[in-house]
Amino acid sequence: ALISLRQLLDHAAEHGYGVPAFNINNMEQIQAIMQAAEDCASPVILQASAGARKYAGEPFLRHMVQASAETWPHIPICLHQDHGASPAICQQAIRSGFTSVMMDGSLLDDMKTPAGYDYNIRVTRQVVEQAHAVGVSVEGELGCLGSLETGRAGEEDGSGAAGVLSRDQLLTDPEQAADFVARTGVDALAIAIGTSHGAYKFSRRPDGEVLAIDRIRAIHDRIPDTHLVMHGSSSVPQEWLEVIRAHGGSIRETYGVPVEEIREGIRNGVRKVNIDTDIRLAMSGSLRRAMMTRPEEFDPRKFLAEAIRAARSLCRERFEAFGSAGQA
Ligand code: G3H
Ligand code: 13P
Ligand code: ZN
Repeated sequence: ALISLRQLLDHAAEHGYGVPAFNINNMEQIQAIMQAAEDCASPVILQASAGARKYAGEPFLRHMVQASAETWPHIPICLHQDHGASPAICQQAIRSGFTSVMMDGSLLDDMKTPAGYDYNIRVTRQVVEQAHAVGVSVEGELGCLGSLETGRAGEEDGSGAAGVLSRDQLLTDPEQAADFVARTGVDALAIAIGTSHGAYKFSRRPDGEVLAIDRIRAIHDRIPDTHLVMHGSSSVPQEWLEVIRAHGGSIRETYGVPVEEIREGIRNGVRKVNIDTDIRLAMSGSLRRAMMTRPEEFDPRKFLAEAIRAARSLCRERFEAFGSAGQA
């Protein structure tokens, strides 16, 4: 059954666990995530970006998620809009049956200016009013996501277009978070605590703490009833990078957020953990390997079944590690 993010994360907070939010774009990803949720008896957050709706088409996405609820009726599913760039995009998602939307008003470059902050409050407040009227939850974002090591916001190619930022600019301020929540009424808040999007988060193997765990704790203490969201939570498994490199792919040396560090974040108040890149790596690595090792095969289902198996196993590991296994 589809439930709201508020319902799902209230349970997680009460029982002290975190829930991975996996990005979905196609049937294979959805089946992999749902099979893993079934394997682990875990509640699940399926999140779709505006790009995912564009890729699959809104009716396909909607019906595939409906098919999941039908196939696995006892698994609680939250269907969440990831990084809604405007109130209009959030409205489309609500109309399409999403039970949660993210209004990402931090996308403007000038978030650190009063004008950027006022804009964020205005659009987020507007989405909260519309969403809550129909029982849909809202996630907001405050701060500028970026790696504490590289000082860069994540970019798909690792170039870091946002430029190098200081530690203070990279962390969400607890007082501002309290003000933001009071003025918008969001159910969940994405915070900047040292993660960045994509595969290129850290250029050296993490040694010790890579996230600002003390900052997570400070924000959680200040807004205990707002569920904290960690974006950019892929761990970038080295095994998959090796499989990709060994089968014709080329990805330079890079590291993600260690799973143990995410667990520490969950112990300090993180409830929703966004993961997209890890599934991309597992699926493209397994596809490359299957296609290269079976040159005579041309039934795409044989290759795609490998990709589902790889993503399913990765999702299972995350459900177990974050403590949501057994909670459905
Ligand atoms: O945070 C962004 C997610 O990884 C979704 O990426 O916009 O390419 O679908 P996308
Ligand atoms: P990753 O790129 O680390 O998987 O993060 C995904 C994300 O935050 C989606 O909103
Ligand atoms: Zn994100």
